[in-house]
Amino acid sequence: MGEKKIRLKLTNLKKSYDTAKGKFQAVEQVDLEVYDNEFLVLLGPGHCGKTVLLNMIAGLEEQTEGEILLDGKAINGSDPRIGMVFQKTALMPWKTVMQNVEIGPKFRKVEKTPRRKKAQEYIDLVGLKGFEKSYPSELSGGMKQRVGIARAYTNDPEILLMDEPFGALDAQTRFVMEQEVSRIWEQEKRTIIFVTNNIEEACYLGDRIVLFSECPAKVKEIYVNDLPRPRDVISPEFLKLRTRISDNTDLAL
Ligand SMILES: Nc1ncnc2c1ncn2[C@@H]1O[C@H](COP(=O)(O)OP(=O)(O)OP(=O)(O)O)[C@@H](O)[C@H]1O
Ligand SMILES: [Mg+2]
Repeated sequence: MGEKKIRLKLTNLKKSYDTAKGKFQAVEQVDLEVYDNEFLVLLGPGHCGKTVLLNMIAGLEEQTEGEILLDGKAINGSDPRIGMVFQKTALMPWKTVMQNVEIGPKFRKVEKTPRRKKAQEYIDLVGLKGFEKSYPSELSGGMKQRVGIARAYTNDPEILLMDEPFGALDAQTRFVMEQEVSRIWEQEKRTIIFVTNNIEEACYLGDRIVLFSECPAKVKEIYVNDLPRPRDVISPEFLKLRTRISDNTDLAL
């Protein structure tokens, strides 16, 4: 295998907030390289700074220090090449599944026929065919997350950030969604940065798993996971990786 191409490079990235109680450091110092088309998982305990870190990459928050380089160039503000699936799916309740999914290209004034075609592709891909005209209130939690994923993909980002997208789902639905995301990623590779606080989810999905410390977020260790997909969560190799990581965590994740 040749050299891996670096898409995103975070150097000396820091974020602090001025609060009533003084300066609060949310992200300590993050140095990280993200390779082209890799499935990178950021694993860390609650409130360690994962969302803050993703928001900086998405251009929704400004870093206090450091640099975020995409293909070697600093990104300024939101970049259309970077998309996000939010921790809480913010669907518009007055819009149908189709209208929620096509919102990105519609906003960019893409014509109806091509944008609907693209939206339909991803609605089909996430398994929501037949629900195009449904409203969010008519969908289960898992289905709403699928809409959020289809919406992010329809924007065609080169780098997709996913912030604990399955955190609110029951264990069974969550596993189905993990299988889906892994399948979609295998079908059409793109760079994914997926945040979770769940070790099993991290081992199931990640090519590499970046383990974070407690707040302020700092990279503690990076694990390479080359187990074949779909991963067998009860194989000895899987359990070994899982144990290696859990033995190294700050908190019981
Ligand atoms: N605007 C803000 N002002 C002050 N503190 C903030 C702000 N945004 C986030 N924080 C703090 O930064 C820390 C990290 O928050 P963040 O939302 O990144 O955690 P997280 O790792 O995503 O947690 P969770 O797993 O619960 O989603 C928290 O202690 C939070 O209170
Ligand atoms: Mg968060």
